[in-house]
Formats: sequence, structure tokens, C-alpha cells
Amino acid sequence: MDSAKLELDGNTYELPVTVGTEGEVGVNIRKLRSESGAVTLDTGYGNTGSCESAITFIDGEKGVLRYRGYSIESLAQKSSFVEVCYLLIYGELPTSDQLEVFRHKLTYHSLLHEDMKKFFEGYPPSAHPMSVLSAMVSSLAAYYPDSDDPKVQELNIIRLIAKLKTIAAFSYKKSIGHPYMYPRNDLSYAADFMHMMFAVPAETYVMPELLTAALDILLILHADHEQNCSTSTVRMVGSSGADLFASISAGISALSGPLHGKANQEVILMLEQILHDGGDYKKYIAKAKDKDDPFRLMGFGHRVYKNFDPRARVIKKKADEVLSKLGIQDPLLDVAKELERTALEDDYFAERRLYPNVDFYSGILYRAMGIPTNMFTVMFSMGRMPGWIAQWLEMKKDPANRIHRPRQIYTGSQVREYKEISER
Ligand code: ACO
Repeated sequence: MDSAKLELDGNTYELPVTVGTEGEVGVNIRKLRSESGAVTLDTGYGNTGSCESAITFIDGEKGVLRYRGYSIESLAQKSSFVEVCYLLIYGELPTSDQLEVFRHKLTYHSLLHEDMKKFFEGYPPSAHPMSVLSAMVSSLAAYYPDSDDPKVQELNIIRLIAKLKTIAAFSYKKSIGHPYMYPRNDLSYAADFMHMMFAVPAETYVMPELLTAALDILLILHADHEQNCSTSTVRMVGSSGADLFASISAGISALSGPLHGKANQEVILMLEQILHDGGDYKKYIAKAKDKDDPFRLMGFGHRVYKNFDPRARVIKKKADEVLSKLGIQDPLLDVAKELERTALEDDYFAERRLYPNVDFYSGILYRAMGIPTNMFTVMFSMGRMPGWIAQWLEMKKDPANRIHRPRQIYTGSQVREYKEISER
């Protein structure tokens, strides 16, 4: 399959076709406008490939997700978050020496410039940590300027991953009025984050190994998801030549929306509401189906997955395992399971192929770790960071890349004459 034909207004246009390594077909319309004057219209970009990418493969029909060819299930079972960061950014799994060097760099770049601590003082305690996170990431550019030198660029990438957990934990400490805890070099990425979140100067905090391992898995499962809303934003902003920190900060802002990353927070709020309302989940299923009611079942549905979200499967199993091993009874887990069971038996959800997504059960695990609900999307950002970086780098290196500038179909008034205000 080399080309496709488009007939428009009596003319035929031959459009080249690009086929991906997994057989995905892309009709290349790059010259369509210059040759025919027409553009395509695809609101929400559901049928638009914005780039060629070698990072992540998703088959939404079969529930397949792979990073650089490796299945998400095998990475969650055998790998570590730091190794997955390396894989996404450099394209290959590291040797043990490469992994050690990378881990060392991530450990030794986790301190924040002391002046940045003053920024936290300016936020009210009620500030949502996602607003703080995107502002602080954007501010990193003031301390670590962009450069075309690949070594500086690489160092900035290391700094970003390393400092993100410090920024995230500091924003939480600030919100509860506790002193900031500095990063510890003897801890793993996940354990260090939990130390900065929950230790106090008077005592250390040690998270049970089971929870540290679960957190690492959650970070792996969130690490990339090809051209979703936040990743497309990172590429869009980066396409103008904006620096790494500005591009990623924009991605964090995109992730903060309830239809995207903030759905994990919304799921817990929804489950709590159902519980407080007497646990009548059927009432909420009915609300979600009612087109006159704006309520949606949060954590359900996905633009790409139409059978199941493979990340949700791994997370549900892990949540079950962790809670039962630690003897934690979380009534929200019971509500979530009942809600899922009832929705999956309902024609409305079956016909629209709506299944639990990554956000449906992740909050249950975060709760078990003691992470407050408004930090859930920050956790998502920490996981997604290597994916955003890998996509930004790929975009920068792609010779076909040019500033992202979609077209539109104008539907407003045709030209009209301006009238003085006295004549209106
Ligand atoms: N509850 C009830 N109905 C739903 C839901 C839901 N969660 N999701 C989709 N639908 C219905 C829509 O009303 C629509 O019905 P219709 O055909 O009768 O009009 C149909 O299913 C298709 O939905 P769209 O909104 O067109 O699907 P889209 O691909 O644009 O949206 C999205 C996907 C945003 C994820 C949507 O399913 C949703 O809002 N889910 C809840 C929020 C959520 O969990 N977001 C996290 C997604 S994963 C992530 O970003 C990390």
C-alpha cells in the first residue's frame, strides 16, 4: 500500500501512505492544502497522526501497551522506574554499568537551588500542587538555561527527573506547614520521594518495601502513553523551539484537567461521594447514563482503549494484593469493584466500549501509601516525566518536525463594515 486517492470537486489527488512497524496506516496529507486548497477536519484529533514515533506502541482494540517494544506487563514485573526512564529516553535497556551511572546522576541532582525554596512561601496552603508543580518546573529554566549543547541538554533532563520529586514533596510539606525534608542519597527514587513527603526532622520515615515496590510499578505504568493530550502539548510547545522546562511545564498543565490526569483525583472524590450517599452505586451509573446530567463515571472510558486498559488490569491486581497483605480495609475499593462490575454488565457501557482506565484503581493504591488525594495527579506527572522527555527529544531530532500549526475551518461572519458606537 503506497498511496491513497482522494476525490474532491471532480479532481483526484494521490496521497502517499506511511505504514508503521506494527502495520498502522497513515495517509500523508502534508501537500493536500497546497495542491487542492482543502484541509482535513478532525476535531479532537481522533484520526490524526501528528508524528512518526518509535517510543510507545498501543493497540487499543487488543489492550496492548509497549515501551520501545517491551510489554508494559513485563516491565512492571521485572524492571524498575529508573530503568524505564533510561529505556524511554535513550531507546534501549541499559547495561548494569549504564544503569548505575544513570541512577547515580539522578540521585546527585535532586537538590533544589536554595533560592527556589522562597517560591514555595508565596503560595497559599490551599494551592493545588499541580499549579505549583507546573510553575516550579517552568522556573527551572531560570536556573538551568537551555543550550544546543547535547551534554547540557542531557544534564537538564537528569535535573528535571531528579528534582521533580523534590519539588513535588516540598509543595506538599508547604501545604501542611511542615519543614522541607531534603533528599537522601541512600534511597531509591520512590523511597526518597516518600521520605521527603512523610519524614519529619525528629524521625525518619521508612515505607514498607511492598509499598515502595508498588509505587515503582505505578510510576512505570504511567511512564508514557504516546500522543495523549499532555504529550501532544509538550510536542506542540517544544515545536516552537521553547526550552525543555517550558515544554514540560505546559504538559503538566494539560495533565491537570479532569478528563486527563486529574481523573485519578476525581475517581476518589466520586467514590467517597457514593459512599457518603449510602453506597448506592446504581444511582451513579444511572446519572452517568443520563445525557441531561453532566456527571460522568470518572476513571471510565478512553479514547484509544476499547476493550480494556492494560495498565488498569495490573493496578487492580496490585491494589488487591497490597491491601490484603497489609490488612488494609478500604471501603472505597469495595465501592470501586461494585461500580466496575455493574457498569460492565450495563448495555450503555458495553455499547460504547467503556472500561476502567488507568485512573480507576491507582488512587486506591496511593491512599494505601498515605498520599493525599490532591497529590494524585502530581504522582502521575512524576511517572509521565520520562515519556514527555523522550517525546520532546524525538520531536527535536525529527528532520520532518516543524512548528505545529493546525488549520481551521472558519465559520464566523463574512466581512462586514465597522459602525461607530453611536450608529449601533
Ligand atoms: N461515563 C459516562 N459516559 C461516558 C464516559 C464516562 N466516563 N466516557 C465516555 N462516555 C460516553 C460519552 O457520553 C459518549 O456517549 P454518546 O456516544 O452517547 O455521546 C461516548 O461514551 C463516547 O465518549 P467521548 O467523550 O466521545 O469519548 P472521548 O474519546 O472523546 O473521551 C474520555 C474519552 C475523555 C476519557 C472519556 O471517556 C471520559 O470523559 N472519561 C472520564 C474521565 C477519565 O476517566 N479520564 C481519564 C482518561 S485516561 C487518562 O487521561 C490518563
